[in-house]
Amino acid sequence: MARRKLVYEGKAKILYEGPEPGTLVQYFKDDATAFNAEKKDVIDGKGVLNNRLSEFFMTGLQRIGIPTHFIKRLNMREQLIRQVEIVPLEVIVRNFAAGTMAKRLGMEEGTQLPRPVVEFSYKDDSLGDPLVPEEYIVALGWASQQDLEDIIAMALRVNDFLAGVMHGVGIKLVDFKIEIGRVYDGEFPRLIVADEISPDSCRLWDIETNEKLDKDVFRRDLGSLSDAYTEVARRLGVLPQNNAPSGKPTLVN
Ligand code: CDP
Repeated sequence: MARRKLVYEGKAKILYEGPEPGTLVQYFKDDATAFNAEKKDVIDGKGVLNNRLSEFFMTGLQRIGIPTHFIKRLNMREQLIRQVEIVPLEVIVRNFAAGTMAKRLGMEEGTQLPRPVVEFSYKDDSLGDPLVPEEYIVALGWASQQDLEDIIAMALRVNDFLAGVMHGVGIKLVDFKIEIGRVYDGEFPRLIVADEISPDSCRLWDIETNEKLDKDVFRRDLGSLSDAYTEVARRLGVLPQNNAPSGKPTLVN
């Protein structure tokens, strides 16, 4: 088979040209990075788990009428996705204070917010993805006012879905990040959920114990990241129930 053309290589994923125009193949690497890639490691099996978990969340969103870039999973590490024009924003939804919000406002991590809040960072690693006010986004032309309203509504729907699914398996959805893509049906642009949804981009805490089951395990050296992600996958039924959390990922077909 001819070598596929590489379109983009990021910290945790690689994009290749897809088989049809308007499609891409998204490959999930085992690389983990944090603090703008100052901390790096390779976590055996992380890419396999995130490929499955992102498939699980994206197909769930589609079933409740939220469009995403996901088309189908191709194999252990790759999925076919729609090519999109990425809106250069990280859309963050928070249900509890943690991470940069807790730090910035001096709040205790885990404080429940009176309602979910949506915030935006400008996607630029060299600037450290700075937080941006909505007015900048419109003024600088990254999204129109209407797009912004649609993105907020979509992010809150994603939040309700993810928080509900997680609650069902005893996990608190503290916060998460999504990225939004623009696709064109003829001339008409539409916004869809793109990138990935996985424990790399969410904060997930056990409801009973507040044990962290997300990338903070890696960021803060709290134990085995692969065990944490395997536990999330096992609870969601993406891995067989009898798979020991410390075992290597065993995949259900
Ligand atoms: O994660 P960090 O403390 O740097 O930033 P945050 O603003 O508190 O992150 C909020 C949520 O967005 C967390 O679940 C992060 O994992 C996620 N996030 C992400 O996936 N990618 C980024 N570049 C920034 C945040």
